[in-house]
Amino acid sequence: MKFAGTYKFKFLLPEGGQQAVVNVRANDRAYEGEVICGRNFQILENVVVRKDTISFDATIGQDVHTFSITLKDGTAVDGKDIILSTGKAQALTDLVFEKKKFRALILYCTMTKNTEKIARAMKESFEEYKWDVTFYRMTMRPKDWEGMQDKLYFDDYDVVALGSPIVAGYPLTVVNKVFSAGAGGDLERVVTKQVEAGGGFQANKDTIKPPPGEGGPGQGGPGGPPPKPVIGVDWRRKHCAYPGGPSQFNYRPLGIVFTTYGGGFYGSGECKATLAALQLFLELQNVQVIGQFACVGKEFGPAGLEEGEKPMLIDGGEMPDPAVYEKADGTKITASYFFHGEPWNHPNDKDVMKAKILISDLVEDMFQTYDGRRAQVNSEYISIS
Ligand SMILES: Cc1cc2nc3c(=O)[nH]c(=O)nc-3n(C[C@H](O)[C@H](O)[C@H](O)COP(=O)(O)O)c2cc1C
Repeated sequence: MKFAGTYKFKFLLPEGGQQAVVNVRANDRAYEGEVICGRNFQILENVVVRKDTISFDATIGQDVHTFSITLKDGTAVDGKDIILSTGKAQALTDLVFEKKKFRALILYCTMTKNTEKIARAMKESFEEYKWDVTFYRMTMRPKDWEGMQDKLYFDDYDVVALGSPIVAGYPLTVVNKVFSAGAGGDLERVVTKQVEAGGGFQANKDTIKPPPGEGGPGQGGPGGPPPKPVIGVDWRRKHCAYPGGPSQFNYRPLGIVFTTYGGGFYGSGECKATLAALQLFLELQNVQVIGQFACVGKEFGPAGLEEGEKPMLIDGGEMPDPAVYEKADGTKITASYFFHGEPWNHPNDKDVMKAKILISDLVEDMFQTYDGRRAQVNSEYISIS
């Protein structure tokens, strides 16, 4: 584990001086990672550790570079770069090593702040373990996304948590907008119209465009990169090398999805479609989802029952009074007409505690391992109520 962390240094390319950032992780069998050098993002190859030195290859520009860095007492003391094609060696300058710090990204959206309460509980739980947390509320306002790109690459995190309330049976629109390539836009209408007009579908840049106002010029056409919406960011640094090509990537952060919801139509089953959608969106971006959390969130509106209020029967008449139950300590509990107790009071302290415990279990099981490597167990962290 001693080589895991971030290395920063400067080195020379034919086009001038370059600043590189190298992330190294201890995987279950070996070290692995990436080098980020300007817009260049390369997976490390041939990572080898000998005594106090780690070396790895990375293709930068036209050349394969072999970097070697020596650590002493947790500090980088020496670094060099050998260019494979010429055998030329150069010293790395301004070399700094920062020991691995665990990082979580909590992405959420909310209307009435219930989901934010759970997101905040998760943040606090990570922070109790001294993790760095990036806490970000996703909105439909382009301005809120400005300057966020460098903080929102999933590649940079150990855990990514994605949360949304349920509205009309599904996550908030912003989730679709930032995790799909333009869902809910004009595309399907344009294609259907073409096909029904008898000409068949012609895929070219004039017929496939990002939905109005959602893409920059020339973006999103067939064969090109995925459309860049005016909200959202690229979640991964590396895409497939050619249209339709595989986009495997050697690092997958762990993921948690969460929701707060009313369940006013069908009860607790309602959260499942939303959790599944959130999970699939994360998995599409190379996140290995191992946890789900759902709790009731008080509804502010006609569907929200206040304490003592009875549901209105659709066919008229009145609901009978609810039963009252007693706990061993004498506490009285008035039964709920709802699928869960006290719909007027959620997320409550118990929900917050459950969210915190779910995170603490995940951190302790998966990351606080005897050798510092992420655990390879099949645990799942699920709390759905
Ligand atoms: C307009 C509206 C529509 C909703 N639709 C659903 C729904 O279809 N299914 C559901 O389970 N909850 C639904 N809810 C309840 C919310 O998901 C719940 O109150 C949630 O906790 C709100 O989260 P937020 O405070 O983070 O916005 C709806 C709430 C509102 C205000």
